[in-house]
Amino acid sequence: MTSPRPDSAGPDVAGAAPARKKLFIRTWGCQMNVYDSTRMADVLAPLGYGPAETPEEADMVILNTCHIREKASEKVFSDLGRLRQLKEEKAGGGQKMVLAVAGCVAQAEGAEITARAPWVDIVLGPQTYHRLPEMVARASRAAGAQIDTDFPVEQKFDLLPEVRANQGPVAFLTIQEGCDKFCSFCVVPYTRGAEFSRPVAAILAEAKRLVAGGAREIALLGQNVNAWHGEAPDGSSWTLSRLLYALAEIEGLARLRYTTSHPRDMDEALIQAHGRIPQLMPFLHLPVQSGSDKVLAAMNRGHKAELFYRIADQLREARPDMALSSDFIVGHPGETAADHAATMALVEKVGFALAYSFKYSPRPGTPAAGQPFQVPEAEKDARLQELQALLRRQQDDFNRACVGREVEILWTGAGRHPGQIAGRTPWLQPVHAMGPAALAGRMARVRLTAAHPNSLSAVLLDEKELTPA
Ligand code: 5AD
Ligand code: SF4
Repeated sequence: MTSPRPDSAGPDVAGAAPARKKLFIRTWGCQMNVYDSTRMADVLAPLGYGPAETPEEADMVILNTCHIREKASEKVFSDLGRLRQLKEEKAGGGQKMVLAVAGCVAQAEGAEITARAPWVDIVLGPQTYHRLPEMVARASRAAGAQIDTDFPVEQKFDLLPEVRANQGPVAFLTIQEGCDKFCSFCVVPYTRGAEFSRPVAAILAEAKRLVAGGAREIALLGQNVNAWHGEAPDGSSWTLSRLLYALAEIEGLARLRYTTSHPRDMDEALIQAHGRIPQLMPFLHLPVQSGSDKVLAAMNRGHKAELFYRIADQLREARPDMALSSDFIVGHPGETAADHAATMALVEKVGFALAYSFKYSPRPGTPAAGQPFQVPEAEKDARLQELQALLRRQQDDFNRACVGREVEILWTGAGRHPGQIAGRTPWLQPVHAMGPAALAGRMARVRLTAAHPNSLSAVLLDEKELTPA
């Protein structure tokens, strides 16, 4: 399963000092891509690359792309057109700029990129980031594109340097990559490859480093994160719930999350862990895609709507303040008005605090793209509008129901206005309150006072420090 926000532009990430050269990374897509950008900045830092604010001031630009939804490649090619101009201008001034395309578009369309955009120096797939320094060195010496999209995933994690420890109060930790589920509509199994789980020892070591570097919350990442089954030092295989119990032992780690999950891999022990691990936040992103059994079968999701209802009930039984988030696709080939009504009924019945919904878009090479009975665009539009109106209402209701509650916030940094601090509730809602900037990285209780479309206002109650500042 992939993470949400597939076609939103993620934050631009750049590398660490000391820097003699400047690196600009533009990131599209899911949390996995954001994490990968951080790792690319990490591997380039020893080569002297530090952060650039804009491509104009950069000696190297990396486009870290996402392929999950349509038009991704067009966006990359139009960006590459602009960067060609920049590269030429710089060359005119005697300055060299290395241009790299990374991520899923690079994986899927590497050859096309070198053919259509020969000014690109490096094309690399998600499994080859550890080879960046070597490729950069070669690219800076010679002209001509480097292509590297074919490398066993197991080696990626072994060969990357240790993750930068100071990601801030909220850190991401990739524990799993790839997917073997082959949903009819999805490119991930083709672009990210087969499912791979990192071993227990590597994950625990990385988590401890992150906490020592100031992380109070760790979000475990994976396209299919709850299918994780990592090898433990004694040779046995752990499941995700076991890993969560072990991570919860790390002193100073106040919050745990994991994303993105598949309903089929929500085993009993994992559901129960939500009731037993206080650090595990009462919020889960669990994509269901459709409420119709017929469409779920056509999507090759491998479960019926009933399973999702059961998981939602069991999670709320285990943890009564549990809130759910999900992904939906409207207009999958063969979806009728009655199928859409089943999706609407599922949303009504389950109730979501947050959700991402998309019109089905055919992805070349996926089974659904070739299926007959494609739903007309106008019908997809109408269904999406209806679904999004309901999801928006549920999100507003959820946020409004939080007003008046006293909850613990993890403060992440300064707010938008002077004197304000910003943080997150246990349910991932952005919160702002008047308070000292020194609270960043700490927990403090608030009373939630107002709900806005995408955030909540709060007033500070007592300040509780989990660890010394
Ligand atoms: N069309 C529309 N939405 C898609 N997603 C994945 N592939 C497609 C597609 N071909 C959505 C799914 C997934 C989310 C990350 O993106 O809902 O869970
Ligand atoms: Fe998620 Fe299915 Fe795509 Fe795998 S194939 S990443 S389970 S949507």
